[in-house]
Amino acid sequence: MSALFPVIAIDGPSASGKGTVASRVAQTLGFHYLDSGALYRLTALASRRSGIPVSAQAQEFEPAIAQCAAHLDVRFEGEHIYLQGEDVSLAIRDEQTSREASRVAALGSVRTALLQRQRAFRQAPGLVTDGRDMATVVFPDADLKIFLTASAEERAQRRYKQLIEKGLTAMMSDLLNDIRERDERDASREHAPLVQDSRAGLLDTTYLTADAAVAEVLRRYQLVVSRDCV
Ligand code: DC
Repeated sequence: MSALFPVIAIDGPSASGKGTVASRVAQTLGFHYLDSGALYRLTALASRRSGIPVSAQAQEFEPAIAQCAAHLDVRFEGEHIYLQGEDVSLAIRDEQTSREASRVAALGSVRTALLQRQRAFRQAPGLVTDGRDMATVVFPDADLKIFLTASAEERAQRRYKQLIEKGLTAMMSDLLNDIRERDERDASREHAPLVQDSRAGLLDTTYLTADAAVAEVLRRYQLVVSRDCV
């Protein structure tokens, strides 16, 4: 294990279930939890609210968006996320913010602006974090690295179920296209693209329940802990 507080870094594509798995692993171990994607979503929302046309011309407004990222007034409280004191937990999950988050996340200076903020979550007794570059860039010395994925069809199906349960309507074909587009953008961007770190173990959850995926991450972490204790 590293000399600092332990980190479990879970990366993977959109809607792979890594947020559910990471937060439940954190809860079981009594560790802190960082949903790094929320910071990109918050940056998109804060930028739009300050009048920056994020959807259309994110690149052109990169310095202004990076300023928003650097000065995010954000508070995480359990499942709730507050931006300037307002609960935006739902607002950051809508489709527009999801698309815009993917655009702001492609900007190098935005990523740099969020780097220290993410590292500051590494506190006693430990951290479980999920995102796209947790193992490759933010916590390269993480104690356990997992690349969690599922087929695009299965991810679209899970997203569809979530939306229907919330009473919203959705088209499977649109969701699948959206997931494929986001995968392509996250994997092909210049800065911190989504890639499996060389030390990250694959966890394919296409045919796994969330309970089974959580149990598997905990099993791998116990192996790391026991290996370091001998
Ligand atoms: O995990 P998520 O869907 O909430 O992430 C929102 C967006 O932010 C998504 O387009 C990928 C991006 N992201 C990123 O580039 N790096 C991270 N560490 C986390 C998320």
